[in-house]
Amino acid sequence: MSPALLSVDTTKGKYLMATRVLIGGQWGDEGKGKIVDVLTEQATWIARFQGGNNAGHTVKVGDQKFVLHLIPSGILREGKTCILGNGCVIDPSGFLKELDEVRAGGINTEGRLWISDRAQLALPYHRALDGARETRDCGKTVKIGTTRRGIGPAYADKMTRMGLRAGDMLEDDFEERLRHNIEEHNRTLVFQGHDPLGMEATVAEVLGAAERMIPMITDTTLLLNQAVLKGEEVLFEGAQGTMLDIDHGSYPFVTSSNTTSGGAATGTGVPPNRIRDVIGVVKAYTTRVGEGPFPTELFDDDGMNMAKVGDEFGATTGRPRRCGWFDAVVARYAVMVNGVNWWALTKLDVLDAFKTIKICVAYDMDGQRIEYLPAHIRRFAACRPVYEEMPGWNTPTTHIRTWEALPEACRNYIRRIEELTCAPAGFVSVGPKRDETILTPNAPADLKG
Ligand code: IMP
Repeated sequence: MSPALLSVDTTKGKYLMATRVLIGGQWGDEGKGKIVDVLTEQATWIARFQGGNNAGHTVKVGDQKFVLHLIPSGILREGKTCILGNGCVIDPSGFLKELDEVRAGGINTEGRLWISDRAQLALPYHRALDGARETRDCGKTVKIGTTRRGIGPAYADKMTRMGLRAGDMLEDDFEERLRHNIEEHNRTLVFQGHDPLGMEATVAEVLGAAERMIPMITDTTLLLNQAVLKGEEVLFEGAQGTMLDIDHGSYPFVTSSNTTSGGAATGTGVPPNRIRDVIGVVKAYTTRVGEGPFPTELFDDDGMNMAKVGDEFGATTGRPRRCGWFDAVVARYAVMVNGVNWWALTKLDVLDAFKTIKICVAYDMDGQRIEYLPAHIRRFAACRPVYEEMPGWNTPTTHIRTWEALPEACRNYIRRIEELTCAPAGFVSVGPKRDETILTPNAPADLKG
């Protein structure tokens, strides 16, 4: 591959920018998988830029259901090339299990899936450390409610510079370095009162996986930048959501990566000035899994109905999701930190049977009305929602395919969300299938055909 393309003169605006980032605007599980699947029709490349197999995207293609954790859902569309960027953490065994499932579903992945040689590996000792931390009971340790996929410990190793990267699998000293890291992490596990990992079994597991992964490992930074300079459509597929971002989320109840749009640049090596626009995905209500404050959380029948109708169980862990009303303070914050150009508003149909619908427009923090998100978790935990109530539409919407055909009360609800968050809704999703999606009059021009 020639790096010559990288020297193309871009100062005269000669290259066409066809890059788009998709991120979650809440606590994850916003239905990004489905929107990515819809947007993928236009894209040639789909790149994950952060996270690992802690994510869970459920995509329905016809009557077939795929649950993807690490592999971009673009893999389900023929002719698309998928990338796991340098910002990801890759669990070799988890990755290969998922790959085998996708292949068993009749998808040909040959030459369509590339792993960055700069991506970190999430190894068995990371999983063990994650589980150990979550079960530790020593007073000050905060239980995060992680997915126990080893995500935090893998990113910790990246930051302390002891992590192993996918590209290391190609080097002669990989086994030696792996053994060293197993030994080091086993010491921590034993110190914390847990069993150490078996050295030989762990080495065999990782080396076996490496053999299968090696043909897919390459310099994806180069691949993607060349594609961008040629004007090819690239979709950056975010996982988790804004409130789980390690810097901007509800710290410490967050994941360990940058889930916000800036992560697309650092997590793939495509510079920020080559990114054209950002689509934020939000549910018509709010959910979260794991621990941590959640101002609009419901503990009544309304919350139970959302969970039941919305089938709110985690795709990765099967845990029930906590449910609540739409939080416009959170969504407004997501617009600010991601630069959201359009919303994709999902699962609107879940609200079909509600007589009235509430939107959180501000917080009451110790008697003071605030319209922004406090940084400190203790202040955030003190926030009580200030609601505005709107009439529901009380009629099914799943069969509707045009903006005009949506009930007026439903359009009013969407318009109010747009006003409160200062971003237009480009898409509305009224069911899990690809075609159960409505493009609004405000949708991105390139998609309106
Ligand atoms: P971790 O990413 O496994 O370290 O988990 C940290 C926090 O992020 C926990 O609250 C998880 O429940 C949450 N989380 C991680 N991945 C997802 C996701 O894909 N959807 C929703 N929550 C997630």
